[in-house]
Amino acid sequence: VKPAKTIEWTGRAVRLLDQTILPAKTKFLTIREEKAMWEAIRMLRVRGAPAIGVSAAYGLYLGVASRKPATLKSFRTTARRVADYLATSRPTAVNLFWALDRCMAVVDALSGETTAKQALARLLDEAKAIHAEDEITCDQIGQHGAPLLAGITGVLTHCNTGALATAGIGTALGVILTAARKAKFTVYADETRPLLQGARLTAWELQRAGIETRLVTDSMAATVLQRGLAQAVIVGADRIAANGDAANKIGTMPLAIVAAHFKVPFYVAAPLSTFDLAIKSGAEIPIEERGREEIVKFGGTEVAPRGIGVFAPAFDVTPAKFIAGIVTEKGVLRAPYGKSIKAAFGG
Ligand code: MRU
Repeated sequence: VKPAKTIEWTGRAVRLLDQTILPAKTKFLTIREEKAMWEAIRMLRVRGAPAIGVSAAYGLYLGVASRKPATLKSFRTTARRVADYLATSRPTAVNLFWALDRCMAVVDALSGETTAKQALARLLDEAKAIHAEDEITCDQIGQHGAPLLAGITGVLTHCNTGALATAGIGTALGVILTAARKAKFTVYADETRPLLQGARLTAWELQRAGIETRLVTDSMAATVLQRGLAQAVIVGADRIAANGDAANKIGTMPLAIVAAHFKVPFYVAAPLSTFDLAIKSGAEIPIEERGREEIVKFGGTEVAPRGIGVFAPAFDVTPAKFIAGIVTEKGVLRAPYGKSIKAAFGG
């Protein structure tokens, strides 16, 4: 089976697979301007750090194009405004800001003779480049990471890091899929409360790929490791600090601690666009908090008393000391991460 068509540029608009209703329904959305893209990112219709970055880049182009700026000056002010607006959609995945900054760097570098039309074309080219590069990056992450899973009979993963979360085969799930081409093992997929990216999306992708999968609730993951059913854990990331601390979907950090306890290697797979070298440690990573509705309801049914207080962080931070390796497109980075991350960025 072909990977899901998560994000497609149609020539005029972006076609997004609405991930909020998968796997029950396969519905595509046509996004023509930045407000619809903002909403799609905010509501997790498109989600996963790399996919958010690609979508934001197209959203920036669409927002500027829909206003038809006549001069380079108005093109520039419009682009700045649209980029600032899209940057408010979600706070944690740094790929969002990375993609917008990359597009704005193109805008800033335009020479004074550039027409608004040419500038728009450059902006679209940059979005397409970000899109195309992510596909290649995923393949490289898969190649570098697959050997880490050699000889295992089971691997545990959390959230969704596959084709739905990227423009390619995925990051952590890409590693799993690449390894599964040569070996047979079982994937334990964490359900991933509260929005069920594991149950709804990862289990769906793995089933389509014909890989043996066992869905577990988040609270069962520790038992999977205790019983030795999985000999490796691999997850994605939304933002990795300069010291290797990694933010990922809520529920990741306890997995890393349990994995350390049972001496199971815990890996993170992420492109370099997920690293935020401006941030020294995980303590500085902004963690999204989402609405109470996602906690007090389950599938639309109330599961908690009305008016109860909630605490709903969407991500947690895994300290670098629990991470056995970070799989990137440049290879597997190892501790001490301060050094290996710097080296991966050529510093
Ligand atoms: O809230 P989400 O679904 O956008 O969170 C996604 C994750 O936490 C993923 O693990 C991460 O973005 C990496 S995706 C390759």
